[in-house]
Amino acid sequence: MATAASATNLEPSVSSFVERKHKMLIDGKWTESASGKTFPTFNPATGDVLSEVAEGDREDINRAVKAARAAFESGPWSKLTPSERGRLIWKLADLIEKHTEELAQIESLDNGKPLTVARAADAPLAADLFRYMAGWATKIEGTTIPLSVPYTPGTQYFAYTLREPVGVVGQIIPWNFPLLMAAWKLGPALACGCTVVLKPAEQTPLSALWLGELIEEAGLPAGVVNIVPGYGETAGAALAAHPDVDKVAFTGSTEVGKLILQAAAGNLKKVSLELGGKSPNVVFADADRKSAIAGAAGAIFFNHGQCCCAGSRLYVEDKIFDEVVDGVAQRANRIRMGPGLETGTQMGPLVSEEQLRRVCGYLESGKAQGAKAVAGGERMGEKGYFVKPTVLVNTNDKMKIVQEEIFGPVVTAIPFRDPEELLPKANDSVYGLAAGVWSSDIKKAHALASKLRAGTVWINCYNIFDAALPFGGYKQSGWGREMGRQALELYTETKAVCAAL
Ligand code: NAI
Ligand code: MG
Repeated sequence: MATAASATNLEPSVSSFVERKHKMLIDGKWTESASGKTFPTFNPATGDVLSEVAEGDREDINRAVKAARAAFESGPWSKLTPSERGRLIWKLADLIEKHTEELAQIESLDNGKPLTVARAADAPLAADLFRYMAGWATKIEGTTIPLSVPYTPGTQYFAYTLREPVGVVGQIIPWNFPLLMAAWKLGPALACGCTVVLKPAEQTPLSALWLGELIEEAGLPAGVVNIVPGYGETAGAALAAHPDVDKVAFTGSTEVGKLILQAAAGNLKKVSLELGGKSPNVVFADADRKSAIAGAAGAIFFNHGQCCCAGSRLYVEDKIFDEVVDGVAQRANRIRMGPGLETGTQMGPLVSEEQLRRVCGYLESGKAQGAKAVAGGERMGEKGYFVKPTVLVNTNDKMKIVQEEIFGPVVTAIPFRDPEELLPKANDSVYGLAAGVWSSDIKKAHALASKLRAGTVWINCYNIFDAALPFGGYKQSGWGREMGRQALELYTETKAVCAAL
């Protein structure tokens, strides 16, 4: 395993931002937490404290919800035209683009991902998402509906629908793509005219706080977006349960997704959930070997496997099983590991000590149940939260490592004989977020795509995201779809208006 060399120099604005004691954004003002408490965020490459951040709790959530309610009901937000709203969102996208380097550096420092990845993917995808949603602000339309009411013969009606913002929205996001998840959540909510209280993950609050400054610079009115960093069990739980929040949108673990549902029951707020995954990636013998091998490696190792849609179950047709597994293992062994900010780094550390322990626990469990590592299989070094890219064979569908989400750079490889044998295995999961199919027989690939119980199926590609393409899960991978026009459904209510003529 090669180690990367020299570190990138931080932008002066990033150094001073990181050193600052961070506040929360409520009603257009940067404020301390009501309790005065702060919490540390860590550099996962070293385990050292990076920044101190105001720790939001129930009281801060209350203040933020109050500000969001006022901005929604009577503030300038509700009085803006859709075009004006769209222009502000577009301006925010321009500002993200302008600050790509700073945002990418912050993301790399706080989350551990390679700077090159944050530059090429996280920041541009966030800007693109806001631009795409800015365009929707002026296109959220209702319909006219012809009626045939049987018990009022002779009366004519004019009936139509309006799409109205759902109201005050609570958004709770994870640490794997901190800026991008903020964009996925904020973009459609703002396009629809909602106001927001956003709670970033406690592991990675920094890019959302920088985004808060850009939101101010873009000119969004006070109270439209409130950002309250803090822990899930306190700030997150208070937001999910808040009686004056109309909708909660959550991305994270399936376990917490179920808690969100329970918390939301009190006022029956609307709920959308993006949860875990254990996505099958299927390679047929007629696939282009080179791209299938590269694709299978990318499917699991991108973002260190910390993707809800990671291709973590690799199913390979038995004729080419050894060749593909060997190819993926070789790629795993070539990945250059190091701190995200070092030039040449291709894989950084996992986000936290907790995740390091969790992933290593799965590696132990796999070993104990008879799995064999043909690449990786262990932690790298003693400092930072690095886990070697790992390929496991001698696995079967009953093992914990094949059933449960590992959320690390760990793939299990299993051979299959034909599509009939493969399909029930591929669908044998409580999750249904994504799947991959590699084949040069386009008929076979589409036939399988139609039978896979997953919200996204990639054919001869993997991890392709676009602001226009809906994303979300079947089964316990979640409720609702983010991105694309489907995202507007999460943030609007439909009103039917019926007038007797
Ligand atoms: P988590 O689900 O606990 O955290 C995600 C977000 O939810 C964070 O903002 C957290 O503060 C918040 N949260 C936690 N408990 C809450 C509660 N009771 N009420 C309201 N909000 C709450 O995920 P965690 O613990 O960081 O990671 C554990 C596992 O979850 C990972 O190993 C992975 O399997 C999965 N995960 C899935 C993600 C996805 O993209 N679908 C993202 C992050 C984690
Ligand atoms: Mg948790």
